[in-house]
Amino acid sequence: MSKHTEGMLRTDALQDKVLIVTGGGTGLGRSMSKYFLELGAKVVITSRKLEVLEQTARELESETGGKVLPLACDVREYEQIEEVISKTVGEWGRIDGLLNNAAGNFISPTERLSHRAFNTVLDIVLKGTTQFSLALGKHWIDQKQGGTMLNIVTTYAWTGSGYVVPSACAKAGVLALTRSLAVEWAKYKIRCNAIAPGPFPTEGAWSRLLPGELKDKFDPARRVPLGRVGEHQELANLAAYLMSDFSAYVNGEVVTIDGGEWIKGAGEFNNLERVTPQMWDIFEQMRGK
Ligand code: COA
Repeated sequence: MSKHTEGMLRTDALQDKVLIVTGGGTGLGRSMSKYFLELGAKVVITSRKLEVLEQTARELESETGGKVLPLACDVREYEQIEEVISKTVGEWGRIDGLLNNAAGNFISPTERLSHRAFNTVLDIVLKGTTQFSLALGKHWIDQKQGGTMLNIVTTYAWTGSGYVVPSACAKAGVLALTRSLAVEWAKYKIRCNAIAPGPFPTEGAWSRLLPGELKDKFDPARRVPLGRVGEHQELANLAAYLMSDFSAYVNGEVVTIDGGEWIKGAGEFNNLERVTPQMWDIFEQMRGK
């Protein structure tokens, strides 16, 4: 039986680590937080909506027996980030890792977006990630303490993609941030890595980004060579590894986890999968000897 929906790491892999997960109240952020808790971490979850966070915190604590601190924070506001850092240190004494997961995205022809809409996505994804990384990096350097940063990007961070242009610009920036800080801050024992996930269904993002019939028409599973979308636990396993000391020598890396989706789009002849075996038979006969 396939083990891909099971936790992968030993149960003390993140023992006593204090981790901050932005956008940790819902979706993939919640799933990764849950697994971090199962591996012994204490987790701060942040987002704009405190009621959502408090509800998630209660659920995660009862599901895992771990400790969760819900803190309201709009990653666009630097002072709110500084407050999260000081409250976390006040509560648990230290911070060991940051998962920059909070994001926003509008699927739309670019010319239909207002400049405010464009800036909203840039502000959440690029500015939010750079601000949290800067604030926490300064804190770690001040404290002479190392730490681990993990950024969620996407495969179109390097290919670009129409119809999600603000997100593509922002994620490309986050990828540059990841690789730049990985080198510059290695001397402070700060590691920086990224994950580029393919399609992992979540209630929030999918119903918002692909409403109604769009979801069936553009079923993301059909684009994936492995023929399926990702399981949250698969992403959580990778995130937990990259957050843990088991990956201590991995730095400046971006790991794609997408079932082969992006590379399929890149290969010139990959759409020949639509040729049926009967058609291949005919081509072979036409070729002769
Ligand atoms: N498509 C195009 N433009 C949109 C939009 C959409 N779906 N939703 C909002 N906008 C525009 C608004 O019209 C506004 O522009 P305007 O002032 O020119 O009219 C601008 O974007 C800001 O909108 P606003 O609602 O004030 O933004 P916000 O800061 O309150 O919330 C998000 C924006 C992204 C935080 C919110 O939509 C959200 O919570 N999204 C869920 C997170 C998400 O997208 N997750 C997916 C991750 S991949």
